[in-house]
Amino acid sequence: MEGRLWPWFRERALALQEAGGTRGDRTGAGLARAERAAGELERYFTAALAARRHAGCAPRDLMGALAAAGREDPSLTPAVLTSTCVHLLTAGHETTTGLLGKAVLALLARPGTVTELRAEPGLVAGAVEEFLRFDPPVQMVTRWAWRDTELAGRRVRRGDRLVAVIGSAHRDPAHFPDPDVLDIRRATGRHCAFGLGIHYCAGAALARLEAETGLAVLLDRLPLLRPDARPLVEVEYAPDWVFHGPSRLVLRERGQEGEAAGKDHHPTPVIPPLGIKRRSA
Ligand code: HEM
Repeated sequence: MEGRLWPWFRERALALQEAGGTRGDRTGAGLARAERAAGELERYFTAALAARRHAGCAPRDLMGALAAAGREDPSLTPAVLTSTCVHLLTAGHETTTGLLGKAVLALLARPGTVTELRAEPGLVAGAVEEFLRFDPPVQMVTRWAWRDTELAGRRVRRGDRLVAVIGSAHRDPAHFPDPDVLDIRRATGRHCAFGLGIHYCAGAALARLEAETGLAVLLDRLPLLRPDARPLVEVEYAPDWVFHGPSRLVLRERGQEGEAAGKDHHPTPVIPPLGIKRRSA
């Protein structure tokens, strides 16, 4: 993807996300925006895949690899490949952004952890796993029961819809001692922030790489993340029960309070409740 198109993709990915099933505000305007975004993305990816399909050369990017796979396997129709591209764009969008945003919030409340990470950058990979456990960007996944069964003393019938709350599983003291403590040296064991089983996240390796790189850069270059900075924090959460994370996160140096008059301040952020605040714009 060309870098100049990134804002274009982001706007469309967010339009689709905002019309998602768990958002409170599914207005006609929101749904129309999502419909338009879906059409534009469909046209973009259809053309991009067609260009690669006809190029007849070795694939140089993911879309090229998908187009090559489509040449080999007739079940991978242009429509299937186009929707795969749209899915990859949206699946990888708010998730990693949410992880980084929430990692920054957790660090702002724990200057000691910032000092530790800055002194020992080798801890960043483990810290990313702990951020994924502590406050997962995808809070829950849905399943339909394949057969009648019993779960924790409750009867489940074939076809019943079940919601597995990852955020809750990650605070189970039977699996994670002192689960409410953020400990970047913890042996995280098997957290399920990327799901489990056949639908395990296809982008987990990429997400880890993005988060580790992003966090290392933020620790290195963001002066307001230094342990002694104590910035003012302005945060708005997307009203979403599944994709949980800030839709807006602004750090300001103290002394610039005037600029943020009327906004919500969280000078010492803790884990905020789900979907606490609607986007104001
Ligand atoms: C921190 C970042 C991410 C988190 C926390 C995350 C989390 C998840 C979770 C929990 C699932 C399982 C959904 C289910 O079982 O119903 C999933 C599936 C998926 N993720 Fe991610 N994801 C992240 C980043 C990405 C990225 C970067 C991509 C691609 C570029 C991606 C692509 C996918 C796809 C395609 C699936 C569906 C897999 C399937 O159904 O077979 N994800 N992700």
